[in-house]
Formats: sequence, C-alpha cells, structure tokens
Amino acid sequence: MKAVIKGIGHYVPERVVTNQDLEKLMDTNDAWIQERTGIEERRHVGRNGSETTSILGFKAAEKAIENAKIDKNEIDFIIFATLSPDLYFPGGGVLLQNYLELDTIGALDVRNQCSGFIYALSTANAFIKSGMYKNILVVGAENHSFGLDMTTRGRGVSVIFGDGAGAVILGRSDDESRGILSCNMHSEGKYAEELMMGFPGTKYGWVDLMLNEDFEPDYDKIYPYMNGNFVFKHAVTRFPEAILEAFEDAGESIENLKMLIPHQANLRISQFIQRQMGLRDDQVFNNIMKYGNTTAASIPIALSEAISQGKIEQGDLISLAAFGSGFTWGSVLLRY
Ligand code: UT7
Repeated sequence: MKAVIKGIGHYVPERVVTNQDLEKLMDTNDAWIQERTGIEERRHVGRNGSETTSILGFKAAEKAIENAKIDKNEIDFIIFATLSPDLYFPGGGVLLQNYLELDTIGALDVRNQCSGFIYALSTANAFIKSGMYKNILVVGAENHSFGLDMTTRGRGVSVIFGDGAGAVILGRSDDESRGILSCNMHSEGKYAEELMMGFPGTKYGWVDLMLNEDFEPDYDKIYPYMNGNFVFKHAVTRFPEAILEAFEDAGESIENLKMLIPHQANLRISQFIQRQMGLRDDQVFNNIMKYGNTTAASIPIALSEAISQGKIEQGDLISLAAFGSGFTWGSVLLRY
C-alpha cells in the first residue's frame, strides 16, 4: 500500500507587492533583488488581519478537497505546517479543523519552517502506510507580511518573503505504481540561530519587552534574522544530498526524474542545484519570481502550479526538497 496525492490546491492573497513598491518603503532596488534572488514580486496579505495564516490554509484546503473529489468528512487527520501561526498557541491545525467544520479529528502542527511541508508530508506518509489514517489533509501556509521589518533595517530579509498557502490530500492507494517512494528529514540544531526569530520565546526576555516600558528590544530578535551567506552555503550542499538520498532509498535513477520542485528560497539556489545535478531547465520548477519565498507553503504552491500548467502528469517521477531554518532539510520522492 502507498500514500498518493489525491488532490492539491493553492491560494495566494490578491495584493501584489512589486520590487518597485518596496523601493518606496526602504533603501532597496529592483536590480539588487532580482540579481540576488530572482524575485520580481510577491503577495502580501498586509497587516489588517483579514486573512490570517489559517484562513490562507483553509482557502488552499478547500481547493485540494475539491480537486481530490472527496467529501471533506473523509479527511481523518490534519497536519499543518507554518512558522507564522495565527496564535502563539494553539497552532493552526485546530483552527483549520474548525473552519472546515470537520468532526473531532486530530490536528498536528509542524514547526519546521522552510522544511515544514517536507516534514508534514513525510509524517502523513508514515501515518497512511501504518494504516492509522486514510486521508490526511497536509497544509503549508504562511502570512509573513504581518511580521516583517519593512524599513531599510530589515531589507536583507523582508524583500524575500511572501504570503500564501498550499494543500494536498494524501490518501491510501493499492496502486503500487504511484505514490510516495521515499522520504528523508534532517536537522542540525547548532545552527538554530543563523535563521530565526527570537520573539515570542523564553530565551530573549519577551516578558521584559511586554512589561517594561524602558526595555530596548534587540531588533534581530523581534524580526526574523538570517545570516544569508551562511544559510546559502549550507543550502546548496544539503539540497542535493537530500535529493540523492531519496533516489538511493527508493532504488530509482535520477535519469528518470521528470521534475524537481525545490523549496523556493532563492532562484540562485535552485539554479545552483540544477547545475550541480546536471538537470535540464524543464526538470526544475521555479515560481519564486511571482511569489517570493513562502516558506512552508512554497512546495505545495509550486507543485500545484506545475500540475495545473500540465508540466506534471500521473505517473511522473517527482522530487520535492527543502532546506531552511533549524537548520532542517529533507526530501520526498514520489510518482504522481
Ligand atoms: O528559505 C529559507 C532559507 N533561506 C535561504 O536559503 C536564503 C539564503 N541566502 C540568500 O538567499 C542570500 O544570502 C540573500 C538573498 C539573503 C542575500 O544575498 P547576498 O548576496 O548573500 O547579500 P548579502 O547579505 O551579503 O548583502 C550584500 C550587500 C550588503 O551591503 P554591503 O555590506 O556589501 O555594503 C547588504 O547590506 O547588499 C546589501 N543588502 C541590500 N541592498 C539592497 C542587503 N539587502 C539588501 C536589499 N537591497 N534588499
């Protein structure tokens, strides 16, 4: 028995924020952003709170359910990955269960940032293969724009990230020719603070921040901090390792790869991996140009777009891979 993607969908907020829009807010420019990241525009919900992370996830989930042609009540478990939850606790999974008006099924939250969807999908795969669940709703959703420093001080991070959500229904199938073939998940916690946000958290005195008027916050801890060069160097090593590991575990040859969907961290990272692995342009899907880096949402959004554009067909060998904060990284190999 295998776990197959029965349905997929994605949702991005309507508001397009171009590089030129960002030039009005901070000392940055279109040439810098495009040259270093490939990003031309991204979507932002904004700070009015109308579309929270779980609402974005809900909109993507509705599309995945429709695409799967199942009754939503056939879903027997939810896995929700995000680094930008509506609430510090509880996580987004229970909020999604409520919006979808599902029975009292379990809802698990995954906090693995850019690798969140890979961790969530791998976990769902294990649950399905164990026989515990039949149809798991796996969601990656992010509302980054609420918490980015949109001044020049934050430009190294805030120009990169965008909002959006993607969802899949992972279900049980007796068709051995399709489904998830192998998964891997990795971490290296000694680099936790090379890409992180300290607030709210117990390490950096958030109580002081809230209760003491004179407290001078450390902006590196309130807003996301990223040691960009350092993260880049690790990413270009770990991506190919994880991808090749999944091929080896599955006993598949990379020559049969139809499409690699890398986490959309930076177009330069994707191009680096493509060159390193000797892949053709048509074997790597990128849409970071339109959406920026949507962290846990980037892989399901990209997979959903690639499928809807007819670039992936049933039975194709697909590699999904991610690297990010933690550090965490991993890969899933599947026959769609
Ligand atoms: O998805 C999670 C995983 N994340 C990643 O994989 C991201 C990995 N890292 C990266 O993608 C790249 O490191 C960045 C795109 C984040 C940055 O590119 P970089 O080539 O590493 O630039 P840098 O941080 O070394 O900055 C170069 C210069 C600096 O100026 P000086 O010190 O050389 O005068 C920055 O202050 O560019 C400056 N800079 C900017 N200039 C215009 C930084 N951000 C901006 C900006 N606009 N937005």
